[in-house]
Parts: sequence; C-alpha cells; structure tokens
Amino acid sequence: MSDRKRILTGDRPTGKLHLGHYIGSHRHRLALQDQYECFFLIADLHMLTTKPDKESILAIADNARTIVMDHLAIGIDPAKVTFYLQSAVHEVYELQLLLSSLITVERLQQLPTIKDMAAAAGMEQIPYNLLGYPVLQSADILMPRAHLVPVGKDNESHVELSRQIARRFNNAYDEVFPLPDPYVIGGTLVGTDGQAKMSKSLNNAIFLSDDAKTVERKVMSMYTDPNRIRADIPGTVEGNPVFIYHDTFNPDKAEVEDLKERYRSGQVGDVEVKEKLARALNDFLDPMRERRDYYASQTGFVDELLFNGTQRARDEGRATLIAVKKAMGLTGVWNRISRAAEKRAKKELSA
Ligand code: TRP
Repeated sequence: MSDRKRILTGDRPTGKLHLGHYIGSHRHRLALQDQYECFFLIADLHMLTTKPDKESILAIADNARTIVMDHLAIGIDPAKVTFYLQSAVHEVYELQLLLSSLITVERLQQLPTIKDMAAAAGMEQIPYNLLGYPVLQSADILMPRAHLVPVGKDNESHVELSRQIARRFNNAYDEVFPLPDPYVIGGTLVGTDGQAKMSKSLNNAIFLSDDAKTVERKVMSMYTDPNRIRADIPGTVEGNPVFIYHDTFNPDKAEVEDLKERYRSGQVGDVEVKEKLARALNDFLDPMRERRDYYASQTGFVDELLFNGTQRARDEGRATLIAVKKAMGLTGVWNRISRAAEKRAKKELSA
C-alpha cells in the first residue's frame, strides 16, 4: 500500500466537462495526482438528491463513462487514480447511516448550499436525501480516510462538516479517521454569452470534447463588446469574454497584447480576434483530442477502469466499515448474539 496521503473528490454524472470545469477545478487534479493517492468518485447517489427520475438514472452509465474519459483526455493517468461509481459501493450507504447520529438536522438546515440546490432544481420542499447530501459527502470522504478534498468554494462547507463528523467520531468512539482538509479551488470562467458562469444548462459552454469546427462556430458567435458595431470603433477589452478567453488560453502573450491594443484603438475586426482565439483554443484542446482518441481506440478501457476502481473502493469501504463498527462496539453486539445462537444450535444438535 502506498504511504502517500489521500485525496478524494468527484463529480455528479450530469454530463460532459467544459472549459469552465477545467479552469475551476479539474486542472488542479492534474497537478495533485503525482503527490497524492487519488480517489475520484462518480457521485451518482448525490445526483439522485435533485434528479431521481428514471430518465436521469438511465443516463448515469454513459455520463459516468464520459466523465472518466474527460479526465483521461486532460491527462489524468489511469494508473494513478482510482475512479469509482458511488452507487455500486454499498459500504458508503452503510457508513452514511452510521455517521448520521453525529450531526443535527439544524446544522444541516443552516447550510445555504442545500437551499440553493433545492431552489435550482425548482423544489419547494427539501427531500430527506437532499438534506443529507453533506452527510453522504462526508461518508465519501471518510470511506477511504482521505486527508485532502479538492472542491470549489461552494462545497467548502461540506468538507468542514465532514471534518466535524470525523472529529466527533474519533472522540466518541475511537481514532479511526484523519481529519480531512478542504483544498479550495478558485476561479470561474464566464460563458460564451458573456452573461454568466459557463454552464451546460445555459447553453454557453465549450466542451473539452468539442471538435475543432464546433469550437470555431461557438467562438465566432461569442458575445463581445456590444457597442462595437464596426471594426473602426474603439472597443472595451475589460470584461469582454473574448479577451478573457485569450488571457486564459492563448499562450502567445505578445499576440494577445497586440490584439488588445488594436481593439482599443479600433484597428482590428472581431473576426480576426475570434479567429485567433479559435486557433488558440483548438491548440489547447488538440492534445486532449489525441489522448481521447488513444483511449477510445481501446474498446472497453474506460469501463474496465471504472469497474476495477469500484472494486478497489469497495475494499477500502469494507476495511473502514470494519474499523468503524469495531470502534462503535457494534461488532461486539453481533458477536455476542451470534455466539449465543451458535452455542444453542450446537446443544440442540447433540441433544
Ligand atoms: N458535491 C460535489 C458536487 O458538487 C460532488 C461530490 C460528491 C464530492 N461527493 C464528494 C466532492 C466528495 C468532493 C468530495 O458535485
């Protein structure tokens, strides 16, 4: 077994990853995979808190594959990371229940994230599993006894909660869990519409799996400075999504500076700025496309990876549950009952 510290993080299987995911979180996973032993879960049980309909459930398998493939495309090394499907790890359901006495309903109700998720899903009341979302997330984190949890700012409070649960468990029963630290990742990317954070549902996303033509088309129809109706009108660079993307993805800083200068003085057309952006984005995505093609050419690779990872996660879960039940004294309860029953069965046999 590796003596490196552990990371646990994951995604709900709601669809393919886009540039916003990459900037906001997934690029950090790349840097961390060499220093930590990594567990990346596909959080389909969490998806059920807001999307429990049959149609969403039927889409999980494909969405799980898509997310794993997106990770491989960005350069996550399948030999370094354990990917697993949460709903196939029975141990996490058990652990969640055992941890649930360590946290109050009031504490959960105070979390703004729960209300936000309910509102975003158009729910008037909060389902029991949505209230328990952070408790399930704590079970995810504590199951492999993770030390570090990379999450966006919006999930920080959930990692704090898992830390509180771990501390309470250790105090109440026995030292089983390391206290997990949140690793809060900053950064959001505006969508191609320039109006809101990039998001699949807002239709303003460029996906990591988009082909070159699609990227070109999306870039050419991007929102820019709305006052600039002709190329010779001076334009605004600040807050302009086309230039935000240039700053983020175009490694040719001299080219970007030149474009900005000419844009400000009305000496460059939108088409040129956008064509150069499309090229920069496609250069950025090309290595991902190559890796994607490489893994896709090995039929069944992703399924096998997810299958083996899930077995591995179950092994971790079993070991943790044994330690948890032992620390709580539950193992002893069952041992007493089963030994007594065995004794009686033997007596009956010999009578
Ligand atoms: N809550 C995360 C999300 O917003 C997904 C998730 C589930 C997660 N369990 C986790 C993240 C454990 C980090 C650690 O989609």
